[in-house]
This record gives sequence, C-alpha cells and structure tokens, in this order.
Amino acid sequence: MKKEYKTTAHRGVSRLAPENTMAAFKLAKEHGSQWIEIDVQLSADGVPMVIHDNTVNRCTNGRGKVGEMSLSQLKILDAGGWFDDTFVGERIPTLRETLLYVKEAGIYLNIELKVYPEDNVFALCDKVKEVIEESGIVLSQILFSSFDSQALYQMKRTLPLVRRGQLWQKIPDDASQILNNIDAYSVHCDYRFLVKQEAKWIKEAGYQLYCYTPNFPELVEKHWQWGVDMMITDDPKAYA
Ligand code: G3P
Ligand code: MG
Repeated sequence: MKKEYKTTAHRGVSRLAPENTMAAFKLAKEHGSQWIEIDVQLSADGVPMVIHDNTVNRCTNGRGKVGEMSLSQLKILDAGGWFDDTFVGERIPTLRETLLYVKEAGIYLNIELKVYPEDNVFALCDKVKEVIEESGIVLSQILFSSFDSQALYQMKRTLPLVRRGQLWQKIPDDASQILNNIDAYSVHCDYRFLVKQEAKWIKEAGYQLYCYTPNFPELVEKHWQWGVDMMITDDPKAYA
C-alpha cells in the first residue's frame, strides 16, 4: 500500500500561485494538503495581515513597510502580478478573511506569528487573538507557530486551547526547556539541519515534528523514517 505523506501548503501552494494569497490557499486542498501555513503581521492600524516580508516590495506592486501602512493602503496593492499576469487582482489577505476561508473549507491553518525586530509582540498577539475569537473558528483547526518563543508564550497565556509549534532553523541546546515553557505541541525545523538523534528525542518526548521547506520529496526520504510527521512545502502535490 502506498504510504500517505502529510503536507502543509507553505504560504499556500506557493509554487503555483502567489504566496500568501487566496489563490494559493484555494489550491491546497486539491493538491492534497489539509493544512495551510501563513505569515501574519500587523498593519499600522493594527489589523493582522497575511504577508511574509516586513515590506511590500517583493510581493506587491507597492513599496514600503507593512507596519507603517494602513489596512486601506495595503488593500489597494496588487499581490498577484509579480508572480504571473494571470494573478493580477489578488490582494493581501487579512487574517480574518483567511480564517473564514479555512472555516468554510474545513481545513487547518498554521498561523506563523512573524515578529520583526521593530514589532510589538504583545500587540500582535492581542489582535490575532481578537480576530480568531470573532471568526468563530473551531480552535482545533488552528496552530500557532513562531521563531519568537515569547509570542508563543503569550499565546499560551491568552489563548491556551490553540496548539503551539516552535520554529527553529537549528534545534538549540536548551530546546527541551523552551518547549516545556510554551507547552508546545510541535517542533518545526529546517529539514537541512535536522539530524536523526534530534528527531528521535523530539518524538520520544511526545512532540509532533514538522520540517520546512523541502520542495522535492527525494530530499527528505530519510526524514520520514526518523519520524517526521509532516512537511511544510511549496509543492504539496509532489508528495501525493
Ligand atoms: O513555517 C515554516 C516557514 O514558514 C518558516 O519560515 O521564512 O518561510 O516564514 P518562513
Ligand atoms: Mg512562514
């Protein structure tokens, strides 16, 4: 029997559609992903927006810092044309719009809390919590992830029923203590640096283990054997 490999569509199916747009999210299910990963940060007027970089320069037709632009300034930008003309008209989604889509589609959402050096972690967490509660989404449909342990700790305090995943490029020496502090559900690490021994202790300690962002299945054949539970990839169909 063919083994089923679990995937998360990284920024949506970002190999085939502009990252972090509704067009990329809508492809996830038909490409075999039950999960979508998105990056969230605040607009200048405190609205959680779905965009990866701290500027709009790479993924829209505008220029400027996300945190210095209002919702209305961000919403007039085109977030699809940079990728391909067929996507002209895509907008930067809000977290609220994304949650409503996920709710309707019956899939799962990994909300990466993006914390850039100038950002206020507490404001981000408060606004994200507010939008999640207003959306009425079932809390088991979502998971927080972040490189910033403080953001995850804050979410544990204010929205404890949403699971938390710690993002690391390399697993640090004090990983166990950090995971304990945030009462983590999962560890998300860069597939290029994970080694067998680390996978072993993480699984033995009872955590889910995810790897980002292998876009070719042959790169992670051994990772599945080490017990990795899911790949966060731009190209989920490659694993189908
Ligand atoms: O969730 C994994 C991955 O999204 C982390 O890195 O930079 O793609 O947000 P980045
Ligand atoms: Mg991300």
